[in-house]
Amino acid sequence: MRRKLAAGNWKMHGLTDSLSQIDSLAAAHPAPRVDILICPPAPLIERAFRRASGHAIAIGGQDCQTARSGAHTGDISAAMLKDAGASHVILGHSERRADHGETDEVVRAKARTALAEDLIVIICLGESRAQRESGTTLDIISQQMAGSIPDDITPDRVVIAYEPVWAIGTGLTPTPGQIEEVHGHIRAHLTERFGLQTAEAIRLLYGGSVKAANAAEIFAIANVDGALVGGASLTAEEFSPIITALEAS
Ligand code: 13P
Repeated sequence: MRRKLAAGNWKMHGLTDSLSQIDSLAAAHPAPRVDILICPPAPLIERAFRRASGHAIAIGGQDCQTARSGAHTGDISAAMLKDAGASHVILGHSERRADHGETDEVVRAKARTALAEDLIVIICLGESRAQRESGTTLDIISQQMAGSIPDDITPDRVVIAYEPVWAIGTGLTPTPGQIEEVHGHIRAHLTERFGLQTAEAIRLLYGGSVKAANAAEIFAIANVDGALVGGASLTAEEFSPIITALEAS
């Protein structure tokens, strides 16, 4: 049985004041039936971790370097995330792929480094609008999975997030049938590559314009084990009902 995961990606949002959202979330979910994760920007990770301590809220990073340490000005290593209190890291988000030219190879190298530091990696995949319209979505997902996911994984350390690029921050979401098709495809790819037992244990998140209003419908879809939420994770008021919908699913 896969434990569900409600993950919030704050992206480049959040200052000290935003930490009060963690207090509100903790108060609203003292004993959640799902895993709750907040990935704040790096300067807030340690303080977020302290605020969340004693509560059922995990803290994660949004990226890490491929190298374990070294002369990489401005970059953050997996060990630094772990040291600051992070238990998870998002890797290969489409914004990193677009803004920083991250390839599948880079994402795979980052995943290997993060796994070696005992972080849980959330590897993001997703097609662009043009790829969706040209009917190549499943091929793109296969390519991204083959390239981004390391060969030696343990299922409880890896989460896959399907985030169609055209659905991120746009208010657009795929139809339930489209989400089901891609998530089924991801599960089948994992089964072929890692075997049934491993594949069945890996959690698959949907991300892209998840809100309180569409959460229940999305969480009812086969092979959706939770969500990676951007905008609606920034306040407890918006994120909390998504967590509640996941608990009810
Ligand atoms: P939105 O929920 O703001 O569409 O962002 C999704 C996302 O990119 C989460 O990683």
